[in-house]
Amino acid sequence: MKKRILTGLKPTDSQLHLGNYFGTVKPFIEMSETYKDAEIFLFLANMHAFTELHDAQALRQNSLNILKLYAACGADLSRYFIYSPADVPGHAQLTRVFDCLTIMGTMERMHSYKEALDKGKKWEISVGTFCYPILMAADILLYDADVVPVGKDQKQHVEYARDMAQKFNRQYGETFKVPDVSIRDEVAIVPGIDGRKMSKSYNNYIGLLDDEKTILKKVKQIPTSVQTVEESKNPDECNVYKITKLFLTAEEDAALRKRYLAGGLSFKDAKDHLYEKIISFLKPIQEKYAKISDKEIITLLEKNAKIVNEIAKKKIDEIYAKIGFKLA
Ligand code: ADP
Ligand code: TRP
Repeated sequence: MKKRILTGLKPTDSQLHLGNYFGTVKPFIEMSETYKDAEIFLFLANMHAFTELHDAQALRQNSLNILKLYAACGADLSRYFIYSPADVPGHAQLTRVFDCLTIMGTMERMHSYKEALDKGKKWEISVGTFCYPILMAADILLYDADVVPVGKDQKQHVEYARDMAQKFNRQYGETFKVPDVSIRDEVAIVPGIDGRKMSKSYNNYIGLLDDEKTILKKVKQIPTSVQTVEESKNPDECNVYKITKLFLTAEEDAALRKRYLAGGLSFKDAKDHLYEKIISFLKPIQEKYAKISDKEIITLLEKNAKIVNEIAKKKIDEIYAKIGFKLA
């Protein structure tokens, strides 16, 4: 059987930023090139996004945008099983089973819940947020995934899914594959225009769909030190350099570092250079994005929902028989 790699994309925002691109999209595309023979399940974690996003139009459009952006960045969507768990009843069905096999103490130790507790009162947190990892375990175990690539923050959730698989297998006999978690290297923490981690929540990001005017404005906003043009500058202390570096080859990087250290490079020139780099990187992505219609994505989702439903239904039948839901 082919190796199965599975991961979910949470459509909480209308677009992605450079941090998402270098931290998630690019590594995903590279990984799928490495594992050419694997079956890749790339699904919309819209049922997870619903824990925080209750605007129907936004949830729908974000879901389409994120897949269009992946395609525009070079992901060949026809190679993956892309689908929405909302089209596959198995996700909700398996969630119910795991709900009843999980004690509250386990969920109370989960990141997602603790993060929600940090932000507000216990009684204001939705049950969906509390049970977030349970749905995630269902997403994974329903398809007997071999490997689950995620960011560091999701490691605990995949470990819970592994525990659940083992617990169920012990109690009801061998049913689920115990998946491996693959944590994306944190090699590229992309800084935002204020020097902190680029993030939607800090509003310090450069979006993949930002227009030229917006990008120019944001690049101009990057704070720099007060130094004369002639002075030698330390590239590692310059946020303009740190962002520019993302777009450079090793040789280009070495040359730029030399220019910083030699003196004679103005921050205005450094910013103009960064602006050019961002524009030439984003232009083809934005052009490709504009050519992909919502309809294309919807057609792909519908086609895959049928295939994926068959896999999920078989698994649910097996589980339901084992736990005593099947009467005949
Ligand atoms: P945000 O912080 O903007 O809300 P998300 O938490 O939605 O971003 O990020 C989704 C994924 O994108 C994360 O799991 C992480 O792997 C990646 N990511 C986000 N911001 C960055 C960044 N600044 N540098 C590297 N990777 C990032
Ligand atoms: N919770 C994940 C995130 O925030 C998204 C997700 C949902 C997921 N279900 C999953 C990832 C299953 C991997 C496997 O990024």
